[in-house]
Amino acid sequence: MNQDIYRVFLDEKTIKSRIREIGSKISKDYADKNPVLITVLRGASIFSADLARNITVPVELDFMSISSYGDSTVSSGVVKIRKDIDTDICGRHVIIVEDIADSGLTLNYLIKYLQQHNPASVKTCVLLDKPEAHKVDVLIEYKGFDIGNEFVVGYGLDYAEKYRNLPYIGILKEEIFS
Ligand code: IMP
Ligand code: MG
Repeated sequence: MNQDIYRVFLDEKTIKSRIREIGSKISKDYADKNPVLITVLRGASIFSADLARNITVPVELDFMSISSYGDSTVSSGVVKIRKDIDTDICGRHVIIVEDIADSGLTLNYLIKYLQQHNPASVKTCVLLDKPEAHKVDVLIEYKGFDIGNEFVVGYGLDYAEKYRNLPYIGILKEEIFS
């Protein structure tokens, strides 16, 4: 285990089996719909790579990059687009793939932003959700796991750009934040 990790929260096997379930649900819901998976970089990159391989219907992949926390663990609520999608999503079924919903501000912003392109539908798929941390109502159609208000890293999620490559999701030791 990484020496900065205090506790493994979700191990590889647990994540893998949940993603298989979400993939098969999406495959059923989107049969004949050829959806566009829009992955929010960088946190959702690992999740979406595994998710896409568990979807059995044809999908297209696109990516957005937005600014979020900086190196802090508290949401700024400020969302800035650094990289926009390249796909014309007018009339298309869109699934936003995000690593985690915390305040919900990022997802809410992305839903509204993408709806301006007149897609046929916009749904959201997040690996982790912190329901107690929501500051706005946000609709999540596909969800991996509900978690409490703790800060987690690994499997794409970072703290100051570190730990994204851990194959599990863990909680950092207290001293890492100080
Ligand atoms: P929101 O806008 O407050 O919902 O924040 C969403 C973004 O904050 C996510 O895409 C993550 O990049 C980041 N974030 C929120 N909670 C965590 C966490 O526990 N670990 C790592 N990143 C997090
Ligand atoms: Mg982040």
